[in-house]
Amino acid sequence: MVAPFRGTRDVSSPAVTTRAEPGVLRRGLFLCLAGLGRAFEGGARLFSCAATGLLTLEDLRRAIRTKWRDVGAQESPEYIASGLMKWEDDFYSRFLEPGDRVFVVGCGTGRDLLVLLQRGHPADGIDLVPECTAIARRLLAKRGLGASVLTGAIETTEIGALYDAIILSWFCYGYIPESATRIAVLRKLRAALRPGGRILLSYIPLAPPRSSLPMRLAALVARVARSGWLPEAGDEVVVLPGPPYADHYAHRFTREGLEAETRAAGLTVAFHEVGEEGRAVLVP
Ligand SMILES: C[S@@+](CC[C@H](N)C(=O)[O-])C[C@H]1O[C@@H](n2cnc3c(N)ncnc32)[C@H](O)[C@@H]1O
Repeated sequence: MVAPFRGTRDVSSPAVTTRAEPGVLRRGLFLCLAGLGRAFEGGARLFSCAATGLLTLEDLRRAIRTKWRDVGAQESPEYIASGLMKWEDDFYSRFLEPGDRVFVVGCGTGRDLLVLLQRGHPADGIDLVPECTAIARRLLAKRGLGASVLTGAIETTEIGALYDAIILSWFCYGYIPESATRIAVLRKLRAALRPGGRILLSYIPLAPPRSSLPMRLAALVARVARSGWLPEAGDEVVVLPGPPYADHYAHRFTREGLEAETRAAGLTVAFHEVGEEGRAVLVP
């Protein structure tokens, strides 16, 4: 369930006026900057990045959940049963062994999990959004396929089993904010691998940035406003001048950036290819 936004309620409640004040200031400034970002073409990125820095980590997480809940709600049964995209099929066929036990991070409503189970892999999954995992569970049960589908953020949910392969589904790795958090997730996944195990991930490659100034501004604002996270070069956040305040978060990677996070997690890059998508296989 997406928690209700607390700011609006705080404003109308005199009992919490003092505690709510920083939130009200933050929200007022955020709305001005997000509005300016929309109004002025030229300076839009600077205003939007300054607004990004005012999003709290909880705002950002709520926005990520809302976005993927809305995406999942629009997915038809035909889409879920539509199989893998060609690049996924090539990637998974090349690096999965027959019978490998697989864990899919970001399994959503079950599209890739379904294919893996149909191909004879014992497979489980996890997704952030309860509405999506409920759909995935129903769909698999209807087809008589057994899988454990966990609901929760990979950052905080116990995996509870060992796997031959862990797949971070369709750019999911880059939907986790902050490099340090992503590295901690990779360490956790490494600990859930059987001997000979692999982590397969895909990502959106980062085109050379036009200027690092807007994201540096976002980070400065986040630091001063104590937003609980630091925007980083490669982050892409679309801010909205109203709830849920952001529509999109994704981190794009350079080849070097992805490999640096891999090394920091104690993993080795066994395969790395960058085209329209980045694809990498990581091993302990
Ligand atoms: C592009 S969708 C892929 C969904 C599905 N695997 C598919 O291919 O149709 C990415 C999924 O990652 C999930 N996700 C994003 N961040 C996550 C996190 N921190 N932990 C678990 N799942 C996450 C989203 O909820 C979303 O369902």
